Amino acid sequence: MKSPETSTLSPFHSGRVTLDGMSTSISPSIPADVNELKYREAFAKACRCIGPQLQSFEDELSRQLVSDNPQIDRVLKYVARLGGKRLRPALTFLTAELFGPSTDETTRLAIVVELVHTATLVHDDVLDSSGLRRHQPTVHVRWDVPTSILIGDWLFTHAYGLANAGESTLPGRWISAAAKRVCEGEIRQNQTIGNWELSQEEYFDVLACKTGALCGASCAMGAWSTAAPAWRCDALQSFGNKLGLAFQIFDDWLDVWGDQAPSGKTLGTDFAHDKPTLPWIYLLGTLNPADRQTWFERYNSDPQNAKADLQAMLKQSDASGYTLGCAKGFAQSACEDLRKAISGFDLSERQTQALRALEEIAKASVSRAG
Ligand code: IPE
Ligand code: IPE
Ligand code: MG
Ligand code: MG
Repeated sequence: MKSPETSTLSPFHSGRVTLDGMSTSISPSIPADVNELKYREAFAKACRCIGPQLQSFEDELSRQLVSDNPQIDRVLKYVARLGGKRLRPALTFLTAELFGPSTDETTRLAIVVELVHTATLVHDDVLDSSGLRRHQPTVHVRWDVPTSILIGDWLFTHAYGLANAGESTLPGRWISAAAKRVCEGEIRQNQTIGNWELSQEEYFDVLACKTGALCGASCAMGAWSTAAPAWRCDALQSFGNKLGLAFQIFDDWLDVWGDQAPSGKTLGTDFAHDKPTLPWIYLLGTLNPADRQTWFERYNSDPQNAKADLQAMLKQSDASGYTLGCAKGFAQSACEDLRKAISGFDLSERQTQALRALEEIAKASVSRAG
């Protein structure tokens, strides 16, 4: 079967995630179940069916991250050695496996999504003044900010070249649309700094851009690489968008309540930089209008003490359970889209394994520590 060249949603799907019906699936009191080992084990177990693919992905990634210039080569080797969970490449391989054995084309696209992801992290750590990433000093700490900016640009540019190395121009357009949305999400998030009146809908929309879009593209391109019909690629893109959104809500939960050691990255930066995330948005929403107004006035005149008050209120609230409930609600909704993507399809044993792995990853992504 020939790979589809057009798709109703992709590559220019907005990445906007509908919130219809979400309120019924959000439980405000889901207990925290966060254990690094459990998450790593769940992820590794889910990915066992794509073990050889992930190994060749690692080998190929190392081959891609090279430069004739020894100084640049050193930074690229450092970035490559840092590793990561490889969530997005795993999504690409598993969605490919739903429709046929993954191919060299799948590996190429898995590398493209990981390179773009890594570029966004290198830049994000500068934006967030984060010192630790994947258990190592960040690039701007190990070297400097100009190196981070330019290595991030190197990674982005290399990814686009690789995306356009095949016969079709679709992956190039797909990844460029997704990367643009990630940048838009980061820009929009910066614009929310200090805006504690941000609505949950706006917050979800920013997250769908900054994290959902790349996960969506990872899934759609994986399915496309094994000739899935366009409508199934679209449904998988929607699965990935929601999975990414759930993953980021959980990441924002980790930023407040997570443990820095297993996470391997700097936590607490969102609140420190006045970025309103779901726990705070929810908490402020539980105040009565007069108390809310009083808090905003205090924040405008004395931000440090107003934030300290909010931290004290957080301890007494159910914001943690609410945030986890939202993450789990979106993960659940993602899995419904996954089921739609394979509806009317007789799955082989191998395809069933890939489906189960995607469901396991969705579940693990909202109960992890890193
Ligand atoms: C970190 O992504 C940035 C977010 C979207 C929260 P990951 O948690 O997937 O980072 P690595 O690749 O495993 O380091
Ligand atoms: C950034 O979100 C995610 C990107 C799209 C780069 P965060 O700033 O929350 O990610 P971490 O916590 O630094 O990994
Ligand atoms: Mg960050
Ligand atoms: Mg974070």
